[in-house]
Amino acid sequence: MTYETILTHHDGAVTLITLNRPQALNALNTTVLEELIAAFAEFERDDGQRCAVLTGSGEKAFAAGADIKEMADKPTAAFYGEDFFAGWTSRLVKAVRKPWIAAVNGFALGGGCEVAMMADFIIASDNAQFGQPEIKLGVAPGMGGSQRLTRAVGKAKAMEMCLTGRMMDAAEAERAGLVSRVVPLAELMDDAMATARTVAGMPPLAAMMSKEMVDMAFETTLDQGLLAERRMFQVLTATEDKAEGMAAFVEKRPGQWKGR
Ligand code: CAA
Repeated sequence: MTYETILTHHDGAVTLITLNRPQALNALNTTVLEELIAAFAEFERDDGQRCAVLTGSGEKAFAAGADIKEMADKPTAAFYGEDFFAGWTSRLVKAVRKPWIAAVNGFALGGGCEVAMMADFIIASDNAQFGQPEIKLGVAPGMGGSQRLTRAVGKAKAMEMCLTGRMMDAAEAERAGLVSRVVPLAELMDDAMATARTVAGMPPLAAMMSKEMVDMAFETTLDQGLLAERRMFQVLTATEDKAEGMAAFVEKRPGQWKGR
């Protein structure tokens, strides 16, 4: 399938999705959202695809936010009536059960930071900048910044960033736990794709359940989360991949996964 605002590419079992509006620093408009929903749905449906990477085209930006030009003249009734931004969580985050990684190259501001935080984890280039500058536009985060950023880095930094619009550079983002790793820009895509290949090479059900259980840590009490984790662990013990994984360990050979 070809798209207008994104590019997609298969590299073995890894799907690479690239935001492709470099002239607008990959700003996220309605077409981008619809195309990302379609591309991630295609990734989700394809049994041969096991992990995805989302990045931005060009060296300057992952995404500089929701498209300000699209929002500038939109009436409040339309924002509310369409439940503007709702699709990012309901049709994208919640619909994708397979793992995916954000490879953040440059600015990840406003909706750009928020989309990166929708990924299962973020690998950042050394020139990455994260921020929630919406306050300077007379608004505030609308795609999860106040919630996901606060959960990722804590109240002090999240509040400061939302109230001042200041950007966090890659080193600070790594210290604060927003990103899993920082790599030189020139190595970002090789690193992100190699990491995605590692994830794609894992037993698929165990990968999906690992994602589900880590995500549950943000939604439940500790007791409920521990119970859900144990139940998922117990379910995994019934899979052929569990038998294969443990036999492969004992026989000192790599496992061959069936995804069942
Ligand atoms: N929406 C629409 N267009 C954008 C954009 C955005 N979020 N960010 C950048 N662009 C466009 C610019 O308008 C410019 O286009 P033209 O050449 O047609 O004028 C082009 O991208 C290049 O941008 P700049 O000339 O501004 O580049 P710069 O290097 O001088 O500055 C920047 C880079 C600091 C990232 C600056 O572009 C900027 O501040 N962008 C806006 C960041 C922002 O406020 N993001 C939040 C958006 S609101 C939001 O996301 C709401 C939410 O919570 C979901």
